[in-house]
Amino acid sequence: MAKISMLGSGFIGRFYADSLQGQRSRDKIVSIYSRREESAKKFAEDYQVGHWTIDMEASIAHPDVEVVCISLPNNLHEAAVNLCCKHKKAVICTKPLGRNAEEAKRMLEAVEKAGIFNGYLEDLVYTPKFLKALESVKNGALGRILWAKSRETHPGPHSEWFWDKEQAGGGCILDLGCHCVEIARSFIGKDIKPVEVMCWADTQVKPIDAEDHAIGLVKYENGAIGQFEVSWTFRGGLDLRDEVMGTEGTIWLNSFLRTGFDMFTTGKGADYVAEKAESNSGWLFPVGDELNELGYNHMFTDMFNAMESGQVARETFYDGYVVNAVLDAAYRSAQSKLWEPVKLDVWRGRTGVEKAKTLTEYDAQYYLVKEEMTHFGAKKLILKDKQSGQIVEKVLN
Ligand SMILES: NC(=O)c1ccc[n+]([C@@H]2O[C@H](COP(=O)([O-])OP(=O)(O)OC[C@H]3O[C@@H](n4cnc5c(N)ncnc54)[C@H](O)[C@@H]3O)[C@@H](O)[C@H]2O)c1
Repeated sequence: MAKISMLGSGFIGRFYADSLQGQRSRDKIVSIYSRREESAKKFAEDYQVGHWTIDMEASIAHPDVEVVCISLPNNLHEAAVNLCCKHKKAVICTKPLGRNAEEAKRMLEAVEKAGIFNGYLEDLVYTPKFLKALESVKNGALGRILWAKSRETHPGPHSEWFWDKEQAGGGCILDLGCHCVEIARSFIGKDIKPVEVMCWADTQVKPIDAEDHAIGLVKYENGAIGQFEVSWTFRGGLDLRDEVMGTEGTIWLNSFLRTGFDMFTTGKGADYVAEKAESNSGWLFPVGDELNELGYNHMFTDMFNAMESGQVARETFYDGYVVNAVLDAAYRSAQSKLWEPVKLDVWRGRTGVEKAKTLTEYDAQYYLVKEEMTHFGAKKLILKDKQSGQIVEKVLN
C-alpha cells in the first residue's frame, strides 16, 4: 500500500485521486495540500483523506506520507520537488516536469542527490492501446521504425495559470507537446538520441503571449523522425492520435474521439460526456473508462510497483528532462525558423548510432526496390542494378 500526499486539488489532482483510490485499490491519499482551505477540505471530504492543509511543506513532511504526488501548476513543480528532497520523500510529478530543461535538470539532480525514488507521470505512454502497440513495435512487428507521429489538440486548458506564459512556461508546445514527444520517443527507442528539431508555432486565435498551435519534427540519431501536432484552438473535443510507420508495418491509434463508442442524444438528461467534450447533444463520442483509457491506472501501478521493489519506474525525472530539452529546441526553432540542436548535458542512452542501411538484396546483380502482385495476375519486381545503378522492371507470370 502506498501512502500518498497529494499536492494540488484541481483538475489532474482529482483524476489522479479517482485512479489512486478507484476500484479496489490498496493505495491511499493520507494528506492533501491545496492553496485554498475550502478546496483542501472539500477534497479531503470527497476522498476521505485524514489530513488536509494549506501549507505544502506540512503535507510533504506528514509522518504518514511515503510518496508525494505533484499535481500543481508548472511553476510550482521545482519548489515542491525540493521540499521532497529535504524531507527524503519519494516523489512522482505530473507533466511537464519543468518549464524548461534547465529547471528539469535541477530537479533531476536534486532527487538523485537526495537518493529518493522519482517518477514522471506521463500517462499517455501507459494507455492500454499504447502499451499493446509498443509491445508490437518492440517485438519487431513494424520492422525498423522510420516515423512516429503524435497529435494532441483540444479547445484549450481550463485554469487561468495555463494561459500565463510565466506561470505555465509556454503554450501548447509545452503543455501538449510533452505528451507527443514522449510517445514518439518511446516508439523510436528511448535509448536513441533526439538530435535536432524544426518547429512552426503561432498564436492563431487566443489573446495570449504563448503559442496556441504548433507542428514540429524531431530528428533522431538513427535517422527516424518524430512529429508532434499540438493545438489549443482545435474544436470538437480532445483529439489524441498516434501513428507509427516502420519498414514492415504501420500502427494507427485513436485514443479518445473514436474509441468505438458512438452515441446520439437530443441532450435530454445529458451531462458529462468525456474530458473536454464540447457538446452534450447530437452524435457524441463518450469514453468507456477515462481513467483506464488515459493510462492513469497502469501508470500508478508501474510507479508503486517500482517504488516498493526498489526498481526504477518506466518513466523517471530523467525522461521528463529529455522531453523538456526537446521542447526547448522546438521553441528555439519556432523563433529562428531553422533546425535547432537538442541540448542534452545529461544523456544516458546510446551514442554514435548510425542510420541503418536501406538496401535489400535480391540476387548477385540486383537490389530489390519493390515487389507487387498486379490485378492481371503477374508479379512485378522493381530492381536496381548494383553496378550501373539502373532501375529495371521484371514481370513474372
Ligand atoms: N494528462 C496529464 O498528465 C495532465 C492533465 C492536466 C494537467 N496536468 C498537469 O497537472 C498540473 C496541474 O494542472 P491542473 O490542470 O490540475 O491545474 P488546476 O488549476 O486545475 O489545479 C492546480 C491546483 O494547484 C493548487 N495550487 C497551489 N498553488 C497554486 C497557485 N499559486 N496557483 C494555482 N493553483 C495552485 C490548487 O490546489 C489547484 O487546485 C500541471 O502541471 C499540468 O500540466 C497533467
